[in-house]
Amino acid sequence: MTQAPLKSAQTLLVLGIETSCDETAAAVVSRDSDGRGRILSNVVRSQFDAHKIYGGVVPEIAARAHTVCLDEIVAAALQDAGVSLHDVDGVAAACGPGLIGGLIVGAISAKALALAADKPFLAINHLEAHALTCGLTDGVTPPYLMLLVSGGHTQLLLVEGVGRYQRLATTVDDALGEAFDKTAKLIGLPMPGGPAVERAALKGDPKRFKFPRPMLGRDDPNFSFAGLKTAVRHAALPLSPLSAQDVADLSASFQAAVCDSVCDRVGRAMARVIEGLPVASPRKFVVAGGVAANKVLRTALVGVAEDYGFSCHAPPLELCTDNGAMIAWAGAERMALGYRDGWDARVHPRWPLDPDAAPAVGAGVKA
Ligand code: KG4
Ligand code: ZN
Repeated sequence: MTQAPLKSAQTLLVLGIETSCDETAAAVVSRDSDGRGRILSNVVRSQFDAHKIYGGVVPEIAARAHTVCLDEIVAAALQDAGVSLHDVDGVAAACGPGLIGGLIVGAISAKALALAADKPFLAINHLEAHALTCGLTDGVTPPYLMLLVSGGHTQLLLVEGVGRYQRLATTVDDALGEAFDKTAKLIGLPMPGGPAVERAALKGDPKRFKFPRPMLGRDDPNFSFAGLKTAVRHAALPLSPLSAQDVADLSASFQAAVCDSVCDRVGRAMARVIEGLPVASPRKFVVAGGVAANKVLRTALVGVAEDYGFSCHAPPLELCTDNGAMIAWAGAERMALGYRDGWDARVHPRWPLDPDAAPAVGAGVKA
């Protein structure tokens, strides 16, 4: 039996490190000269237990936890891939946006590894890594319309190429993942809230509570979730203590409202994109970020894409939430274009993909 060589002369092998929030992760991916990617290893350790009693991620605890286990995780990623540090062509780390302590841990470790092995260092924008993941898993190439839905961001972006993003819409208050997490806390579900709400909703009635569909029908494709979260609070308070059925129904009704609102916003953006596209251009839609792991939302988005004639792509569930493979892949894509970063590259707690986007109209805008 012959086996394809792990690495030809034109294949890039990149080690990626992710420490921007509460997952310590490292991975090795390869990128062939034709742009095809392969995951050789992907090790993710969640800090869930360390933060559980606080009901949310504590930045100082997160940073310390990354320092404790990052070397083990990197060693495991290299071992699983069957390579040594000297075999890789570059070392990439998430350098923002995110919690500054964790970002510093990941960036300094990656720089040290790259320096020791005499390899290039790549400073990766975590949002860009989410945005490009479908290139690794499905071979989807820009341009495409992307819905990025994570714990800190909810945006619609035109992905024109690596490093080239145009923001079409954003949330005017909470990010969608944040809305899931806060709603979960409100109704007594554990962290991380998104998967807990999705699980509870399986046994719930999505029609029991008539929650608002924020921004429905608005001309701009922006998002808002703060009012929906408040509506859940108002519905839950008089029912306290909540029965298991109440929790299931609240979850299902919340999730249904989210899907209706997000699908309306995505449809609006698709209509805008179509207006600006030359006739017969391919229409591609990608959803990425932690909330893209929600199966009900994924299914609903497939329907919207069909309505507007877009192909619909989403990474496999385990690559929606934070991981090292997406960082390594973004590093490989950047290396293929000839980029590398200096040892003085900084970390950025805030690092928008489209820094020139005009602020959305509304209070408390998040980039
Ligand atoms: O992308 P991610 O792992 O981290 C950030 O970059 O923020 O996203 C984490 C967010 C959390 O808010 C989590 O509750 C949410 O993604 N999430 C989900 C699901 N899985 C993760 N939300 C809804 N349904 C899910 N199945
Ligand atoms: Zn993320």
